[in-house]
Amino acid sequence: MPEEQERIEYLIKQKKTFSPSKGFRDNAIVRDESIYKRAKRSPEAFWESFAKELHWYRKWKRVLDWKLPHSKWFVGGKMNVSYNCIDRHIDSPRRNKAAIIWEGELGETSILTYWDLYREVNKFANVLKDLGIEKGDRVTIYLPMIPELPIAMLACARIGAPHNVVFGGFSAESLTSRINDSKSTLLITADGGYRKGSVVALKKNADEALTDTPTIRNVVVVKRVGDKESVSMKKGRDLWWHDLMKYAPPYCDPEKMDSEDLLYILYTSGTTGKPKGIVHTTGGFLTGVYATFKLVFDIREEDTYWCTADIGWVTGHSYVVYGPLANGATTLMYEGAPKYPDIGRFWSIVEKYGVTVFYTAPTAIRSYMRWGDEYLNKYNLSTLRLLGSVGEPINPEAWMWYYVNIGKKRCPIVDTWWQTETGMILITPLPGVTKLKPGSATFPFPGIDVDVVDENGKSIKEGTGYLVIKNPWPAMLRTIYGDPKRYVEEYWSRFPNMYFTGDWANKDKDGYLWILGRVDDVMNVAGHRISTMEVESALVDHHSVAEAAVIGKSDELKGQSIVAFTSLKEGIKSDSKLLDELKQHVVKKIGAIARPDSIIFTVELPKTRSGKIMRRLLRDIAEGRVLGDTTTLADPEVVKQLKDKYGHKEM
Ligand code: WTA
Repeated sequence: MPEEQERIEYLIKQKKTFSPSKGFRDNAIVRDESIYKRAKRSPEAFWESFAKELHWYRKWKRVLDWKLPHSKWFVGGKMNVSYNCIDRHIDSPRRNKAAIIWEGELGETSILTYWDLYREVNKFANVLKDLGIEKGDRVTIYLPMIPELPIAMLACARIGAPHNVVFGGFSAESLTSRINDSKSTLLITADGGYRKGSVVALKKNADEALTDTPTIRNVVVVKRVGDKESVSMKKGRDLWWHDLMKYAPPYCDPEKMDSEDLLYILYTSGTTGKPKGIVHTTGGFLTGVYATFKLVFDIREEDTYWCTADIGWVTGHSYVVYGPLANGATTLMYEGAPKYPDIGRFWSIVEKYGVTVFYTAPTAIRSYMRWGDEYLNKYNLSTLRLLGSVGEPINPEAWMWYYVNIGKKRCPIVDTWWQTETGMILITPLPGVTKLKPGSATFPFPGIDVDVVDENGKSIKEGTGYLVIKNPWPAMLRTIYGDPKRYVEEYWSRFPNMYFTGDWANKDKDGYLWILGRVDDVMNVAGHRISTMEVESALVDHHSVAEAAVIGKSDELKGQSIVAFTSLKEGIKSDSKLLDELKQHVVKKIGAIARPDSIIFTVELPKTRSGKIMRRLLRDIAEGRVLGDTTTLADPEVVKQLKDKYGHKEM
């Protein structure tokens, strides 16, 4: 629709703002801005009011114990997360309400009511106990997007065993390191999963991973793909999920967990080659995701909510599983790829289940934008009432396209900023209140003290700087698993008394926040966090590679793409075969999400005289910018050669 496109461009140029309609506002949970004042006056009282809506075996003595940078929330309180996500709803009219609607990639549907979920989680909790899993034991879960994944997580929460979910797209080696770092004793996986119509051999990957994981005693295997993938079951170690569930008793007493007991570990990329295990605890995490889910998505009893994220990432933990279920909402899970069997899949799901609240990533929106309206117009999207975005900055063009073509100018868009570490949304509009500016995540959630500061940590009134958080929040990470020193160094050392997010942001004259991306060596590729160092380590692990420097290059679709500058060992020839081999090597070491988009062979990498690789220069070269000051270079000739090479021979 070219006129529509013109109009979108016009609106962006006009810097138009969008207020919620009167109808939306009048029915919203939050209808006026007084909530910000109330939360600011006493953040503790604000958070406490949400904690009170949950079930506790024992009430807390203090809301917050804050010894910077260590926080404890709802100190002395006892609760169980699975009880709050399930049991709390089965004695209410929600008992027979859909808790999880699942759509398989092949088109199957499975609906679990709260009562169904209660039965499955109780039974699997008993299976876990039967396998000797006790409170505090870590359980690694490597599953596709099937109902057994949230069932396994909730069963772990029920018996107090912290889960460690590993995204199904990670390689065997990534799985090994996550199992070993968390010292898990049990692995839950599947024979396979479906992705773009083919089978991902999860059990095969797991078997490879398990050759080097001394702590694992048992493996529980879900049969998902059946005959399509032959699996070998190791006697005494591997057990089928369906066999174990057949005779499992139907009720398991929930463990009364301390508010600060560990709920889960989730590994994410940092600035070093080694992923870090982010630690989340019980009472604060649940209160945080409960409150934000309720207010940000303005959730109503009759909503059908769909977040397209994989549960292997934090978005799936907080806003596919825990936030929605704590609220007694209906959460939809889709197993497969957005393009399968055709590019109408997302919208066919919206139509089929009458989705009302839809939460996805800008990369997906930009892909749909590119794919055009043909498939879009085939489906009825009139049930939608609220849209969300997460994972990377959303450019105003994509925002407007989403607003006009998906939301039909009727649905507010909540652009939500947060991180694995924050556990919950921290910057976001409130849909019934906030005047939206396309591309801006707008304001901090009530009770959150966010700021933009300069090099010295001084607050910037208007302009660009580092994004920091100045007060604690309930779902904040408590530490890095097994590495408390790194917790302090990574988050609390850049600026005194502030949590450093690793992002930079702009604050405009009206106080709106515009998140600009990472300032550190973490890339954001299609909404996935990948560290440059991880990819570099994977490359130098290959016998042909001498040195590698990896950068994230701006990419219209994915936000960033991965470019690797690589020098080879003496006598090794660079050719397209080696190029493919190196890309494949990274896939094997990390997973397909980390496959470099381009690899550039170079005789040497540009370094300062003290031997530091100049990534800034490499980024400038990759993005075709005029090069800045190169006087600190040890050998300026290296850059000249690279520039010549990159200019006309991109690989
Ligand atoms: C980026 C995902 C701009 C940011 C929930 C952050 C965003 C990193 C947004 C965390 C947003 C997330 N606008 N950037 N709305 N949301 N980011 O840990 O750079 O996978 O630091 O958590 O994603 O990624 P993570």
